[in-house]
Amino acid sequence: MTRSLEVFILAKFISIFNNKGGVGKTTLTWNIADMLAEMEKRVLLIDFDPQCNLSIAVLGGDEFKRLVSNTASPQTVRAFLQGYLQNTGPGPATVHSGEFTNANVKLLAGDFWLNVYSDSLSVGNDLLTGNGIAKFTALRTLEAKLSEQGEQFDYVLIDLPPSFGGLVRSALYSSDYLLVPCTSDTFSEYCIGLISQMLPQFVADWDNGLQRFKQNNYGSKEYDGLGKPQYAGWIFNGFDTRSNKMLRADQAHYKSIESANLALVSDLKNNIGTYNAVLDFDLSGYNIGKVEDMNVIIQNSLWQSIPAHRMDSHLQVKNLTGDKQKWSKSQMKLIGEVRTQIQGIAKSIVDNL
Ligand SMILES: Nc1ncnc2c1ncn2[C@@H]1O[C@H](COP(=O)(O)OP(=O)(O)OP(=O)(O)O)[C@@H](O)[C@H]1O
Ligand SMILES: [Mg+2]
Repeated sequence: MTRSLEVFILAKFISIFNNKGGVGKTTLTWNIADMLAEMEKRVLLIDFDPQCNLSIAVLGGDEFKRLVSNTASPQTVRAFLQGYLQNTGPGPATVHSGEFTNANVKLLAGDFWLNVYSDSLSVGNDLLTGNGIAKFTALRTLEAKLSEQGEQFDYVLIDLPPSFGGLVRSALYSSDYLLVPCTSDTFSEYCIGLISQMLPQFVADWDNGLQRFKQNNYGSKEYDGLGKPQYAGWIFNGFDTRSNKMLRADQAHYKSIESANLALVSDLKNNIGTYNAVLDFDLSGYNIGKVEDMNVIIQNSLWQSIPAHRMDSHLQVKNLTGDKQKWSKSQMKLIGEVRTQIQGIAKSIVDNL
């Protein structure tokens, strides 16, 4: 019997991470996912941050609260992961759609309970012994489970908290690629250096754990291919422009962040010997795109749960009482520019990853 080719296409997992908070991880994840969906890609968004900002952005605060407070029948990531804590394995996986986010995007909603899951992920007991390796790759099991339910994806984008804890480890072990958003400041540049230090250690821990797992499980190949995330570039977010040109200060930051990323590439190549930890692609300075300061558009995007690059087909809300008005000409122009920028990043993902 022949099966459709589609069944064999595995989604590409992309972690979007910078240890620096507030660099635009969540905003970019949402907007890029929506744009990929416009390009007819099927996208799963995973909110793996206990702050749940992505879920609130996509679903709106009220709908998200309704989901989380339904503890009798939880419909968040908690329902799927809880069984891993009791060693009963994965639970039900339910995904959701946002009213204004492209219908090809599905969301596994976050949950404040992720803090509990994060605390339960023990590097010593679960990973290095090889006994709890499944807890660190649960997101791959999620994909398999959704696929059995008829939900298949081309890309899985994972939004993460700004810390190098268990959730980030687990997302990286489950990911094919890592993208790093950076804002125009010294802290974001500093944090790139931390990725140089942490990722090789994470990979070494994984390799040790997997070896132990194989010893205890007669050479099982179950987790082969995981624990090998490739660095796939950085995104410059929130810079200022005047007359369509990046401001001088931002140009200077761009250059130093680019150098930090080139140093990261070299460190990863030198310090991870078990696989090619940097995606081979021909992009100057590993920058896969830029998004300028979206200004007032971003608040409106969040208030209305509409991706920023599509705000031009919606009126702007003037205040939280809900009065609406048209965008000014310059605001419409900015939305158009942001749209082109997000399109560029999505195209780069489709072309290179
Ligand atoms: N290009 C941009 N222009 C203007 N504001 C932006 C831009 N990108 C993000 N923001 C705003 O900056 C703030 C931080 O963005 P966001 O929540 O996406 O960052 P984050 O990296 O996910 O933060 P955290 O580390 O807390 O998860 C938000 O208020 C968001 O609306
Ligand atoms: Mg965030």
